[in-house]
Amino acid sequence: MKKVTVIGAGNVGATCANVLAHKDIVKEVVLLDIQGDLARGKALDTWQQAAIDGYSTYVYGTDDYKDTAGSDVVVITAGVPRKPGMSRDDLISTNAKIVTSVTRSILEHSDNPIIIVVSNPLDVMTLAAWKVSGLPDTRVFGMAGILDTARYRAFLATEIGVSPKDIQAMLLGGHGDTMVPLPRYTTVAGIPVTELVAKDRLEAIIERTKFGGGELVKLMGTSAWYAPGAAAAQMVESIVKDEHRIFPVCAHLTGQYGEDDIFLGVPVQLGANGIEKIIELQLNDEEMKLLKASAEHVRKVANVFYGMGLV
Ligand code: NAI
Ligand code: 2OP
Repeated sequence: MKKVTVIGAGNVGATCANVLAHKDIVKEVVLLDIQGDLARGKALDTWQQAAIDGYSTYVYGTDDYKDTAGSDVVVITAGVPRKPGMSRDDLISTNAKIVTSVTRSILEHSDNPIIIVVSNPLDVMTLAAWKVSGLPDTRVFGMAGILDTARYRAFLATEIGVSPKDIQAMLLGGHGDTMVPLPRYTTVAGIPVTELVAKDRLEAIIERTKFGGGELVKLMGTSAWYAPGAAAAQMVESIVKDEHRIFPVCAHLTGQYGEDDIFLGVPVQLGANGIEKIIELQLNDEEMKLLKASAEHVRKVANVFYGMGLV
């Protein structure tokens, strides 16, 4: 694979392009934004960083979709981020129009790209991109779970006093306050987390994870970008290098977990052709109940999207 396009050269998009360039795994990264000079400036800055940090990936900024022609993977970060007091769902009226129009423009110049959606509200924006793209559902999915588990892993690492690298975790559901971190599927170098962290502390960490995005919005006045940009770049890497890695990803469910016709966070295997497999965990009653509540919430937001008449 040779070419990755990142749409939106704001905080998340520019970070994603920068992290991708540092991975040095593709020939070219195109950064596109309606603010063309912003994309050109951030791309040029990242290309100049190549001489210092030692990578060859060429990073190019533009506002013209012709420059995205023949992209293998496209990451969509275009849209507005939330401000303090807003939920991700409050962004739908603006971002649904942006994500659907961006997806149409991408498809005018690339026949069969893999599309990774980042714009919020994530689960419904991924649905929107898939609906307008006409692509198979193995090629359109969303980034949220890698970020949410990274937050969970960071909080656990601080609590236990170990490296976040040694914490493995899984999480299900929508990218919102109803997300479902799974302590039963969380280990520290293979040791069940429940053997290392007291129940009340673990519950507090799970609660903090659910509201982890909001915590950063309060601190910064806008949403996070370093971990989100790196998370999207990690998905691109698994695709470009055909790594078959397993991540929580927002994917189209067609009966898995008893859910149909919805995009929701679940464990998937990612390789050169996108989603290779959706993994169905054996959930207990409590976990299933939480997942159903999360799906119900996502469905309500999806109905708002359908009501907009964009597809
Ligand atoms: P930002 O405001 O820094 O950047 C967004 C960029 O999109 C701006 O540069 C803007 O000019 C551009 N844009 C707007 N309309 C466009 C269009 N039609 N075509 C091309 N570019 C367009 O925002 P930030 O922080 O980068 O966040 C971007 C999105 O990602 C937001 O919706 C945010 O909520 C979401 N997000 C999602 C995360 C996730 O886990 N899925 C994590 C963090 C952010
Ligand atoms: C986040 O979780 C706002 O979705 C964004 O940081």
